[in-house]
Amino acid sequence: MNWPVLGMLPGMLIQLPRIYDWLAEVLQATDMTYPFRGPWLSVMDILFTVDPENIHYILSSNFVNYPKGVEFKEIFDILGDAIFNVDSELWEDMRNSAHAIFSHQDFQKFSVDTSVKKLKQAFVPILENAVEKNTIVDLQDLFQRFLFDTSLILMAGFDPKCLSIDMPKVEYGDAIDGAADGIFYRHFKPVFLWKLQYWLGVGVEKKMRRSLAVANNFLENIIKDRRAELKTNHDSKEENLDVLTYYITVDTTKYKHLKPSNDKFLRDAILGFLLAGRDTTSSALTWFFWLLSKHPEAMIKIRQEINKKMPKFDPADLDKLVYLDAAVCESLRLYPSVPFNHKSPAKPDVLPSGHKVDENWKIVISIYAVGRMRSIWGDDAEDFRPERWISDKGKLRHEPSYKFLAFNAGPRSCLGKKLSFLQIKTVAVEIIRNYDIKVVDGHKAEPAPSVLLRMKHGLKVSVTKI
Ligand code: HEM
Repeated sequence: MNWPVLGMLPGMLIQLPRIYDWLAEVLQATDMTYPFRGPWLSVMDILFTVDPENIHYILSSNFVNYPKGVEFKEIFDILGDAIFNVDSELWEDMRNSAHAIFSHQDFQKFSVDTSVKKLKQAFVPILENAVEKNTIVDLQDLFQRFLFDTSLILMAGFDPKCLSIDMPKVEYGDAIDGAADGIFYRHFKPVFLWKLQYWLGVGVEKKMRRSLAVANNFLENIIKDRRAELKTNHDSKEENLDVLTYYITVDTTKYKHLKPSNDKFLRDAILGFLLAGRDTTSSALTWFFWLLSKHPEAMIKIRQEINKKMPKFDPADLDKLVYLDAAVCESLRLYPSVPFNHKSPAKPDVLPSGHKVDENWKIVISIYAVGRMRSIWGDDAEDFRPERWISDKGKLRHEPSYKFLAFNAGPRSCLGKKLSFLQIKTVAVEIIRNYDIKVVDGHKAEPAPSVLLRMKHGLKVSVTKI
């Protein structure tokens, strides 16, 4: 309903608690593109689309006309100059330098070793404790803590030890969740309104201000300590494989736009990578285990595959677990950790679907809805069916990224896809091989409205040993 003055906003606000499913229903019924009219003078017109041709055009073939842009930067201001927020030469240098470290074999080995160590030293003891005492655990909280510890070790060489039996309060983690929720609501408010709320420090914007202060303070201290350590002990550069050490000592003749001597530059970079790695992978693991609990036949197949192809954990064998790969892809198709992508054209444009857009339009690609479109995935689009990912030759089927969009497409596609599969599979192998996970009866699994697909009520499970 397009109301005078208020536009379509009232209808959207009513649907906010179930925005992802609602958008999927709307886009299913409207040939995959839907222009939403915001209130008059609010500059809130949004073109929702999941049309693969539009997606390919925006994210790849006409990428230059769709930078992150000024408005994106404002909405995501908590990220400062992190890779997600920047364009042009700075983005190119950030991307090339990040690609160099994330794709390096030593870093990937560091990542697997870190996950294995954390699993053995912290995750397994918590699961064993839950088995022994027959207690309920929140698997989402465990995954978030696991990823927070492992991500900080990888990104900053620091272990905050959040994953432990006494479950310490994770102030930084809560701050990031608060910020992600706040950023989500900014998308659906006129700019002047959320800016005023931020300035006055009220509502969800009050949380944003606090979140930013907590996150900045936490990272600033880590950066100061690492600089001091590198000054007094030059050899520690060789010993430390983490991303912060890499950026403090990065070659600025090669990456001219990076500013390693500036603490704010480092803080923004590390915060961006932490967000990229922690919440995305923990969300992927949470939905994956929830789906497996609903599909015990898939769980059994994965367990059989692990026992047959990887009787003893060896990271080199992770590639052999094709059914596990397929189940992870299927889970990310239905529950992509980043549920939408937001763009604005730099210059007026006409999309392949025929829709005209200009600088005042926001274009929102619902990654969540892309995975549920019958016109893209067939009549069983809503079903969890890992088999759809396996080719006749028993190999993992490649799907084009503008169809399987969980890791984005085009020049800004995810740099951590390989790393995240390594992490997810390492955790899945350890848990599935040794434990049965049962979601507590009546537990409601629904996504919280946010820019990352967290479960609103966590994932409460009981654990038994097999
Ligand atoms: C299941 C796990 C993950 C998912 C679903 C995921 C998804 C995504 C998506 C959708 C984007 C595009 C965001 C945008 O531009 O709006 C992205 C970008 C990115 N991801 Fe991931 N990601 C995951 C894990 C990781 C990990 C573990 C890392 C690094 C350690 C990482 C590093 C990055 C970086 C650096 C970018 C920015 C690329 C650029 O702007 O050029 N991601 N990811």
